[in-house]
Amino acid sequence: MKRINSCPLILGIESSCDETAAAVIRGRELLSDEIASSAATQAKFGGVVPEIASRAHAEAVDEVVSRALENARVKKEELDAVAVTYGAGLLGALLVGLSFAKAFSYGLGIPLIGVDHIRGHLAAAYLEDASLEPPFVTLLASGGHTAVLYTQTWDTFRVLGGTLDDAAGEAFDKVARVLSLPYPGGPHVEALARTGKNVVPMPKMLKGHGGYDFSYSGLKTAVINYVHTKQQKGEPWEPSDVAASFQSAALDILVQKTVEGARETGVKTVTAGGGVVANGYLREKLTDACRAAGLDLVLPVKKHCTDNAAMIAAEGLVQYRLGNFSPLSLNAEASIPLVRK
Ligand code: KG4
Ligand code: ZN
Repeated sequence: MKRINSCPLILGIESSCDETAAAVIRGRELLSDEIASSAATQAKFGGVVPEIASRAHAEAVDEVVSRALENARVKKEELDAVAVTYGAGLLGALLVGLSFAKAFSYGLGIPLIGVDHIRGHLAAAYLEDASLEPPFVTLLASGGHTAVLYTQTWDTFRVLGGTLDDAAGEAFDKVARVLSLPYPGGPHVEALARTGKNVVPMPKMLKGHGGYDFSYSGLKTAVINYVHTKQQKGEPWEPSDVAASFQSAALDILVQKTVEGARETGVKTVTAGGGVVANGYLREKLTDACRAAGLDLVLPVKKHCTDNAAMIAAEGLVQYRLGNFSPLSLNAEASIPLVRK
C-alpha cells in the first residue's frame, strides 16, 4: 500500500443512476470531470429503466475513467486512492462502478473508499470553496432525498428535518408528467415556470408547528387535482402558472427551513447540494435569504449539484483524511439511511 499523502490524487467514480461519471482531484483541486449519460435513452421510457442503466454503465465506464485520467494528465499509477459510490441507488448500476473501482484498487495497491452518494452531494461544496470546513448547515434536495442537515465535524452530521414523503426532485418529476413535460422533469418545470405567475393556490407545505418537517405529497396531489378538474370541466388553464405556483410552493419552504436551521445551530455558513439545487429560482432565493440573514452561502456550480463524480472524489478526500478505507468485500446498497444509528 502507498503511504498516506497530505494532498492526495483521488479518482472518483459514480454510477448510482443514469450517469456514468469519473473525476480526478488533487487535494481539493479538480483536475478532470467526465460524464456520460443514458438520460436521453431513459427519457423515451419516462423514467430510469434499471437494466438499460446497468448496460449503459458497463459500456461507458472504461472510456469515462480513461478520459478522466487523460484530461487530468495523470497516470493511474500516480493515484493515491479510488473513491466510488456504493449506495444508495440502483443495485445493478452501482455494481458496475463498484466492481471497476475494486479492480483499480486491487491492481494498483491503493485504498478503496466507498462513498455514500448523499454524502457526496454534501461534499460538492468543498470543491466550490477550498476553505470550507464544518460546522455548516446544508440544504440537500435531490431526486431521492430532501432534508436540512447539520454537519458538525468532518464525520458527524445530523438531520434537522426534511420531507415526510416524496423528495423535492420526485415532486418536480411527477408534476412534469402531469404537465406533459419530458423526464427528468425539474429543468423543464423550471423553464416553463419562467413565463408563469404564482397565482394558482397551493396547499401549505409545513407539517406540525415550528418543526422542520414538510410534505410534498399534498402539493403533488393539489397540482394533479387542479389540472384534472380544469380538463374535465373544459375550462382554460395556464400550464406556466401551474409550474410557477408549484415551484415557489415547493422551494420557498426549503429556503425558509435552511435559514432557520442555521439560526438554531448558530452556524455562519450554509451550503447546498443535490439535483434540485441546480434550479435557478431556488439558487436566487437561497442567495437572497442568506444575504439577508448575514450567512455565508457556498453554492456548488450547477453541474456539481446533479449527479457527478467530482463530488464523490471530494467526499473520498474527507474519508481519506479520516483514514476510513473500505474492504474489497464492500457491497452495493440500494438504500442507506441519512444517518446510521
Ligand atoms: O441529485 P440528482 O441528480 O440525483 C439524485 O441523487 O436523485 O437529482 C435528480 C433530481 C431529479 O428529480 C430532477 O428532476 C431534479 O433533481 N432536478 C431539478 C432541476 N434539475 C434537476 N429540479 C428542479 N429544477 C431543476 N433545474
Ligand atoms: Zn444524486
